[in-house]
Amino acid sequence: MRRNRATPAVRSLVRETALRAEDLIQPLFVCAGDGEPDPVDSMPGVVRHTLESLVEKCRHLEQVGVRAMAIFPCIERSMKNPEGSHAHDSGNVLFSAIREVKEACPSLAIIADVALDPYTDHGHDGLLDVRGEVENDSTVEALTMLAVAQAEAGADIVAPSDMMDGRVKAIRLALDAAGFHRTGILAYAAKYASAYYGPFRDAVKSDNGKSDKLDKRGYQMDPGNVREALHEVQLDEEEGADMVMVKPAGPYLDIIRAVRTHTLLPVAAYQVSGEYAQIHAAARLGWLDYEATRDESLLAIKRAGADMILTYFAAEVAASL
Ligand code: PBG
Repeated sequence: MRRNRATPAVRSLVRETALRAEDLIQPLFVCAGDGEPDPVDSMPGVVRHTLESLVEKCRHLEQVGVRAMAIFPCIERSMKNPEGSHAHDSGNVLFSAIREVKEACPSLAIIADVALDPYTDHGHDGLLDVRGEVENDSTVEALTMLAVAQAEAGADIVAPSDMMDGRVKAIRLALDAAGFHRTGILAYAAKYASAYYGPFRDAVKSDNGKSDKLDKRGYQMDPGNVREALHEVQLDEEEGADMVMVKPAGPYLDIIRAVRTHTLLPVAAYQVSGEYAQIHAAARLGWLDYEATRDESLLAIKRAGADMILTYFAAEVAASL
């Protein structure tokens, strides 16, 4: 076996998996207001962008060969309420961001997250019923409106991350009815109720400074389940998803592989905030080699079967390829 490992040249001939800049999707945070971009403490190198710095960052993505970004708004606490009604305010920062990026970087694909958690004061992805549980159908209705508004603003792809039942079909029908036949749906199909989302909730302030942890197990998946992920993928596919996602990525490589085997659709994997924070933290302590660990973590996700990877490392990795 060692003959095929003898030199860098031979190793590169037999290498089965490689990362490309085009595989990577950069998640970005934006908030209203000017001034300096606001660093996210638990995610070194990640900021909450102003509209101006967001556009600058998107120009940089184009330069390093990243073809897509996923945009998440960080909403001021005073604008949040139980219904998340600011999500539907045409003047909110998300819609401005989509419009400005589309205008400045028309060839960059914009993926807009469809969920209410940035806008609700309780931090859940949907509307609550009298018992405080997230109500499925009224939430789907609100998400459908949000997705159409995102398409109107210029999103190329909408990505429901809420895990409600039936939302993909409802969004597809609404997009078509509004004339957005070309707007794609990237379904967060297998999204687990994961502890790895902690730094993200800090970034979009959806934990709302509360000390008790947000419990999303009533709609996000149980980390112990595999078959259920395939069931979710099958349903989203039947409902009209154009691409399906597994999230988180690194701790769920078996799920990525299983989904890759079961669907013909493109498969995305989301290397989430906690995966990013982990690598940074260990590197900062001097316990892991930063770049080598970062690159290996992404290669492993690709090898498991992901066609594309949402990762906070996107720009810097693309620049290094
Ligand atoms: C919310 C959403 C979350 C992420 C993306 N969209 C967090 C959650 O479900 O609480 C997590 C992304 C990350 O951790 O990087 N709809």
